[in-house]
Amino acid sequence: MSKPRYYFPGSSRKADLDFAHLGFDYRPCPYRFEAVYRDGFWRVRGLLESTDIQISEGSQCLHYGQQLFEGMKVHGGPDGRVYSFRPAENARRMNEGAHYLCGPEVPEELFIRGIEEVVAANHPYIPPYGSGAALYVRPLYLGIGDNIGVKPARSFVFRIFVSPVGPYFKGGFGPDQGKQFLVSRLDRAAPMGSGHVKAGGNYACSFSPGREAKDHGFAEALYLDPREHRYIEEIGAANFLGFTKSALVTPDSASVLRSITRISLLEIAKKSFGWATEERKIALEELDEMASAACCGTAAVICWINRIVDGDREWTFPFDDRWQKLHDTLVGIQNGSLDDPFGWRHEIPLE
Ligand SMILES: Cc1ncc(COP(=O)(O)O)c(C=O)c1O
Repeated sequence: MSKPRYYFPGSSRKADLDFAHLGFDYRPCPYRFEAVYRDGFWRVRGLLESTDIQISEGSQCLHYGQQLFEGMKVHGGPDGRVYSFRPAENARRMNEGAHYLCGPEVPEELFIRGIEEVVAANHPYIPPYGSGAALYVRPLYLGIGDNIGVKPARSFVFRIFVSPVGPYFKGGFGPDQGKQFLVSRLDRAAPMGSGHVKAGGNYACSFSPGREAKDHGFAEALYLDPREHRYIEEIGAANFLGFTKSALVTPDSASVLRSITRISLLEIAKKSFGWATEERKIALEELDEMASAACCGTAAVICWINRIVDGDREWTFPFDDRWQKLHDTLVGIQNGSLDDPFGWRHEIPLE
């Protein structure tokens, strides 16, 4: 029989995990936070122990994909304090999705309070500073109820669970960790569709292009714009970034998810390093002239790109020290080892 695990709420004791060697996997923690919406009110159910969600078989999230999720990371700081990163931006993005899917907003206060409660309750699972790992926070929004017709739900579940995670791409970030990506001929989202919101259905549509890329030895699929298939859109669950001769560029498209990592990196590039930035359409052919390329997101942080393949065309890129600078500044702000001139860190009270 394996040794039972235990912890004392409120103590600084850590869970018995090899934090430095975690993958990006679901690892259930003792508590999750839940609130349920009915008749115009969110009723907080608080912290629950079961990983299961019991909902009606008629629920809209199961039939019609009326569902959203978010993803963010919480870091342990060098001083033992615990920080989330720009949680109000995740709340805003979830609520853009809620409007799009005809559901009620999750009040920002409820969203952030839920994160604080679930992180504090699971504090032994917050990876210690220096382990390279983080506590991944996954808010979920589900349309529920007894229903069969194609119409929005009247009741919703808002749940947040956490899981300690290591790097998304094996090996994490480093000069020898460039990854290669395959241009997909399939789209993950329609031109005026749901690409800009974090609806689960978008991700179901990315499984097939992702599998094709991985079956051919690539890390992920690179999507082109769904209207003309000319412009770079996104890479898997990450936004694209590239250095041209004059600027750090990133695609401007209505069907790309607004990455909180990307908007933060652009701000750091401009304000901390004085680099020019541009958000605009980027034709695939522009890769000919690009000095270096990367993708970014909460899970991947920054992953630099060493090769992009499109049929019989390919582009290769060297490691660029500017990705290292951006990476180290972002992670330093997130984990509290650097000053936060932007006011992005949100401390989680543990008491
Ligand atoms: C499709 C897609 N693009 C980009 C991102 C990166 O966004 P963020 O930096 O907010 O994690 C994600 C992850 O949330 C994503 O799912």
